[in-house]
Amino acid sequence: MACDALAPSQEPALLQAALAARRMAHAPYSGFKVGAAVLDEQGHIHAGCNVENAAYPQGLCAEAAALSAMVLAGGRRAVALLVAGDGPPWVTPCGGCRQKLREFAAPDTPVLVADTAVVQLRLTLEQLLPHSFGPEHLGKT
Ligand code: THU
Repeated sequence: MACDALAPSQEPALLQAALAARRMAHAPYSGFKVGAAVLDEQGHIHAGCNVENAAYPQGLCAEAAALSAMVLAGGRRAVALLVAGDGPPWVTPCGGCRQKLREFAAPDTPVLVADTAVVQLRLTLEQLLPHSFGPEHLGKT
């Protein structure tokens, strides 16, 4: 499904939130800073950055941080997500983050991918995570 559910007026705010978050990233090991921003069902934006750790597997992705901020603030649905980082290749969400987003989003939820200035890709969750497993499989809606 094409990504057309996000009003154009909301894109700049998401982009700015993600870029501001990216500037706060803690990425001393990879040197690869990532920022993410989620728009929730109430119209609020929640941002996150990657937070790496000397014990490498304990690092946190920017998208996971943004989703955590959304839940903490009371948001329960992700209406759109934007992730920003250096490229090309553009920073599409990692597999784990696609699944984390799946918990709170619909198949047609827009996932925007930006470099450090502009949006480069407009995708949907379904495009990134086809035939996915979600809450419905456990009888939850
Ligand atoms: N990273 C993210 O924050 N999000 C992604 O979707 C891809 C990878 C981070 C994790 C790590 O801190 C750095 O980018 C390099 O993998």
